[in-house]
Amino acid sequence: MLQLEPMVHLSPLNPALALELRRATVSDVPKIGAIIKYWAQKGRMLERSPELLTRSIDEFLLLENSAGELAGCVGLHRMADDLAEIRGLAIHPDFQGKGLGRWLVMGAERLGRDWGLKRLFAWTYEQPFFEKCGFNRIPREVPTLPEEIHAECTRCQFQTNCQEIAMLKVLEPPRLVVS
Ligand SMILES: CC(C)(COP(=O)(O)OP(=O)(O)OC[C@H]1O[C@@H](n2cnc3c(N)ncnc32)[C@H](O)[C@@H]1OP(=O)(O)O)[C@@H](O)C(=O)NCCC(=O)NCCS
Repeated sequence: MLQLEPMVHLSPLNPALALELRRATVSDVPKIGAIIKYWAQKGRMLERSPELLTRSIDEFLLLENSAGELAGCVGLHRMADDLAEIRGLAIHPDFQGKGLGRWLVMGAERLGRDWGLKRLFAWTYEQPFFEKCGFNRIPREVPTLPEEIHAECTRCQFQTNCQEIAMLKVLEPPRLVVS
């Protein structure tokens, strides 16, 4: 039989974690803000104010348990017809190293494909993690990327001395496979 290969493989999450993926709502702003603040204070990512999170809350997916505890979150910010940036990716320290970061990036990729995206972009200090998610390192200045990739730099204390790495994933179209 000829069929389209699934574009994003989301393997089942460990059932023992009892986590669910869902879109964020404004009532999630405090807990998303808290997890991002935790990592921002360690210099791993940019802090996001409640106002900023509220304005962009529709961009966020989150993983939480039935008690409403947040295991992780990710934002997908559209920048062009074919391009979005992964923003605000954060895993709660109690949940690190369980595959949830990759799962959230894959969830964002699936959403991005639904939007018709061809490319996903990210700024990060976590190059090996993003490589595991299929991203490649790119130069900080790329003519084919919009100026908007630098939009958040104005909020950052390291504007002129930034060590973050630019990563890009080109989303290949689905392949026809015979099964
Ligand atoms: C980076 C982060 C998102 C990774 O999430 P995670 O759930 O711990 O990572 P996963 O368990 O999904 O890891 C997936 C793969 O990446 C690897 N990986 C994850 N973090 C890594 C690191 N710091 N260095 C090397 N490899 C790493 C894992 O070993 C795993 O590889 P494997 O499939 O071969 O076992 C998480 O640690 C985090 O929130 N960090 C702080 C905030 C941050 O840096 N966010 C990113 C901003 S862009």
